Amino acid sequence: MTSQNIYILAIESSCDDTAAAVLKNDTLLSNIVATQEVHRKYGGVVPELASRAHQQNIVPVIHQAIDEANIDKKDISAIAFTKGPGLMGSLLVGTSFAKSLAMGLSVPLIEVNHMQAHILAHFIAEENFSKPGFPFLALTISGGHTQIVKVSNYFEMEVIGQTIDDAVGEAFDKSAKILGLPYPGGPLIDKYAKTGNHLAFKFTKPKVAGLDFSFSGLKTAVLYFIQKQVRENPNFIEENRDDICASIQYTIVEILMDKLKKAVKQTGIKEIAIGGGVSANSGIRKALYDAEAKYGWKTYVPKFEYTTDNAAMIGIVGYYKYLNNDFCDLSVTAQARYEI
Ligand code: KG4
Ligand code: ZN
Repeated sequence: MTSQNIYILAIESSCDDTAAAVLKNDTLLSNIVATQEVHRKYGGVVPELASRAHQQNIVPVIHQAIDEANIDKKDISAIAFTKGPGLMGSLLVGTSFAKSLAMGLSVPLIEVNHMQAHILAHFIAEENFSKPGFPFLALTISGGHTQIVKVSNYFEMEVIGQTIDDAVGEAFDKSAKILGLPYPGGPLIDKYAKTGNHLAFKFTKPKVAGLDFSFSGLKTAVLYFIQKQVRENPNFIEENRDDICASIQYTIVEILMDKLKKAVKQTGIKEIAIGGGVSANSGIRKALYDAEAKYGWKTYVPKFEYTTDNAAMIGIVGYYKYLNNDFCDLSVTAQARYEI
């Protein structure tokens, strides 16, 4: 390992957050995220608007990241950026900017897989947070992803289960939309579930082989259930909001935990690290802590700012790739579908 300090400027623009961060080795110096509010009124991310908002945000976000890190542009050792997976129009903004900046500053360029970054976010140096030991299982759950990954080393990862349709965050958000809640509805379902009875209503769990997930059936089940109940009682949602939310959340957490238990059984690995926006959910957190006591698992939940989309996680991958001399050239392009 080199004794010199390595400064990575990282850029993330795969979905609807424009983000930039600066790391000094594995320590974060700044972490800026501009969340795009423009999508709220559409109830989901509109790709064309996301791309335009990234173009507006990217320069100020990068300036702010460099300013807050209190470094000079000439200190930067390399630029790391998200190559994919994500929305093509969004990825292109970050990729093009990273390429121009690397060329302008004459520093190397490092391409990063967004899903790998969600996992390696656990390795950003943080007081009071311990890092998972290899091998571990990573459960990445967000509005765009649902994956179980077997992580043997920093760069040796195998997807052993993933969604065949909607992501788990979509299951939360689409269910919330059916209940008339604003986007993103996941945090609201979590909030109302706290005072509801999770056994009030029963939704059937999907039957999917192996370690894969499916959430589109649940969304349809919630829709039909609510339509039927509202026909009989127009005030059904208002009168039962907390119980409905608790029952939906309970079903989603059960689906995730069933597969995680299966993955532990199959691999013999009991170190579990979670990431992605849905890892903020109190139901999944409680289920994981219960599993620690009940099955002897060891679970890792990163600091909240590293669970949702951010550039710090892109930076930590950049740092490890820098140590491996793993750079790319300026012919690199964004890639909407990009396997780990
Ligand atoms: O990682 P993230 O910020 O963005 C991506 O989708 O990549 O995740 C956002 C997702 C949304 O679907 C949101 O509803 C969900 O995470 N979410 C939650 C909670 N907080 C965020 N879902 C359930 N409970 C929460 N507390
Ligand atoms: Zn993500």
